[in-house]
Amino acid sequence: MTVSGPVALAEAVRDALTETGGIGATVRQIAARIDDHPARVAAVLDRLQGRGDVLRMGRGLWVLRDFEHLSERDGFVDPTEFVERFESENGVSLGRYSGPITFRSNDGLPVHRWWPYVQGYSAEFVRGVLAANGVARGSTVLDPFAGSGTTLVEARRAGAYAVGAELLAPAVLAARVKTRLELDPRRFEREAERVLAAAARRSAGPLPFLRETRRQFFPAALRDLTRLRDALPAEGNDAEDAVRLAFGRVLIPSSRLHRSPCLGYDRRARSTGPSVFERFRTAVAEMATDLAAFGGERARLGPPASVERRDAREGHWPRESVDLAVTSPPYVNGMDYVMNYKVDLAWLGYASSYADLAALRRTEVACDNLPRTETAAYLRTTELPDPWLDELLPRLKENVRRKGTYRRDDMHGIVHRYFADLLPVLDGVRRALKPGGRLVVVVGDSLLAGTYVPGDLILARLAASRGFSIVSVEVARSRRSGQRRTFELRESVVTLERPRSAT
Ligand SMILES: C[S@@+](CC[C@H](N)C(=O)[O-])C[C@H]1O[C@@H](n2cnc3c(N)ncnc32)[C@H](O)[C@@H]1O
Repeated sequence: MTVSGPVALAEAVRDALTETGGIGATVRQIAARIDDHPARVAAVLDRLQGRGDVLRMGRGLWVLRDFEHLSERDGFVDPTEFVERFESENGVSLGRYSGPITFRSNDGLPVHRWWPYVQGYSAEFVRGVLAANGVARGSTVLDPFAGSGTTLVEARRAGAYAVGAELLAPAVLAARVKTRLELDPRRFEREAERVLAAAARRSAGPLPFLRETRRQFFPAALRDLTRLRDALPAEGNDAEDAVRLAFGRVLIPSSRLHRSPCLGYDRRARSTGPSVFERFRTAVAEMATDLAAFGGERARLGPPASVERRDAREGHWPRESVDLAVTSPPYVNGMDYVMNYKVDLAWLGYASSYADLAALRRTEVACDNLPRTETAAYLRTTELPDPWLDELLPRLKENVRRKGTYRRDDMHGIVHRYFADLLPVLDGVRRALKPGGRLVVVVGDSLLAGTYVPGDLILARLAASRGFSIVSVEVARSRRSGQRRTFELRESVVTLERPRSAT
């Protein structure tokens, strides 16, 4: 069925956009709502845009010009309002953190550059936190969401015992290899040469289970990647693990994929540049150079780090064993780590099927690709872990309902589960900290279906409800919302303390 006549169609599109208000809607969503063809809706939107009646926001969303600013919409609670409430209810004013916070500044740094992890933070930030908290030889530093090991590398370099948990196996591999700075670079290079020679004698092997592999990789690269993969040693030893990491490093550069920060695919990308084997050699040479450069530092390193592939929600660390915890959890619906690292998971043999990926996703802190069964227990919108969520989640649920065709109607369940997932981690870290010990968390806020969620402030409030005191919340940088490019989000450093008198 279609709406007849251009005037009626334009009216129907306007009505649909009035309904979805400041949340906006995509061409497909509008077309589904008014039961018309997406191509006809797109043509009407172009005309209305030319007249200045509608605007295009991030991620293909359209809104009526009247809804350009979310703050003008009824019921929208903006970031400033939450900050004011936080300051009056929790007695802490927001400050500023200056200095590089994003991983980008690690890209040129020895060792940190071995596995560019866009979701990580800067080594300089960690060094500053360690120094400000007097971390030295004999201290223990914990990172419950260790990622690629930025905290752990810097803690070892400061002489501390570094302890990390992480669920994403390729990140665990990176963190392990990056913290084993005693590895003899010549032994590593010999192991890499042995693997290359074995790969050169092999013929092409089977492709991993990922359906899009043929489309996403160049044929010659696929052949060499399978040969190299099949020549890799098993995991477990320092030189062998380092060779596996070097292989992991060449996967994305050998494909039409990129991370920016989500995994993206460029259909038109042509096969240019070095071969897989050459890329592997370059990766190995860079790692060996960094290991050699660390030679002089070895005597000052802390004891060997402990990096476990483990769910941080288990909170398994010994009581009162940790001087300082530094971490950054996933952000509220910020990233599906499993989706983003599925190529690494599959090629390195950590996942053999889509069922493996789904199982891993269920144990990671909640993101919006969770199966519905995982949110079923989190759909209620009252008696939530924080009173602010009692206000926020019904609003989010209503916004999704108004939108009609939002990707899923249980978004409020995802957000509920996200904060519920953080609670056992906070409890575990608090137990593990020595009295007076601190937990420093880098975390951001979010805009979801037109509802603003102050993830940093809610995390601080949750921590306060679990026996931490809030030392400070410092805004480190602003980010742009993927949903609405004009909407400014932030990334904050939340510092919490286990009070000395707490049990
Ligand atoms: C923001 S990243 C941490 C990056 C890290 N600071 C760095 O510099 O590399 C968050 C990490 O938490 C991990 N994660 C998510 N849920 C987890 C869980 N339940 N237990 C342990 N790690 C988890 C993700 O796999 C991801 O690597």
